[in-house]
Amino acid sequence: MNIMVISAHPDLSRSRANRTLAKKLKEEKNLLYRDLYTEYPDWHIDAQKEQRLLLAYDRIVLQFPLYWYSCPPLLKKWFDDVFTFGWAYGTGGDRLRGKEFMIVTAAGGTAESYRSGGDNEFTISELLRPIQRTITKCNGTYLPVFVTYNADKGTDDYLAAEAERLSELIRRPIEALAH
Ligand SMILES: Cc1cc2nc3c(=O)[nH]c(=O)nc-3n(C[C@H](O)[C@H](O)[C@H](O)COP(=O)(O)O)c2cc1C
Repeated sequence: MNIMVISAHPDLSRSRANRTLAKKLKEEKNLLYRDLYTEYPDWHIDAQKEQRLLLAYDRIVLQFPLYWYSCPPLLKKWFDDVFTFGWAYGTGGDRLRGKEFMIVTAAGGTAESYRSGGDNEFTISELLRPIQRTITKCNGTYLPVFVTYNADKGTDDYLAAEAERLSELIRRPIEALAH
């Protein structure tokens, strides 16, 4: 399975969680790792190149720190620029059909805080529904979300274990991911 990771962290030099996950992912075979903020410092996303790359990969992993219960803005712009009418959706727009998308995110909040009655009230899956629907509207397959909670306070050992957990499931077939 060919995997493309699209990472979007506004300041990887200050990152711990995403950097630890990224380091592990970069060791994987048949995996293209890209960082949007490095590739597009001027925010001019090359939509045709992005579309060509999307066609070439089976599974697309979107990796980002959770910012205000969503993705950082350059990844939002990536959706806006790349998932175009007639290509990704609308008349004749079914080029993403059958592609698998997996969100890999790190959150400052704890797992206990992301539930009804908890500090953050909702689960991460609930909060990421706009991204889920964007993908399913474009006929993509939305895989279960991978979340590293407590990302800021977590020890180096915890983050390393999270990276290991991610590398164990990144290639799992959909049947083994969704319960
Ligand atoms: C602008 C901003 C918004 C954030 N919003 C959230 C949030 O909505 N929920 C949350 O749990 N953590 C939030 N955080 C914490 C980040 O998710 C956390 O610092 C990050 O995932 C840690 O990963 P890193 O070490 O790779 O930067 C926010 C952080 C920043 C800077």
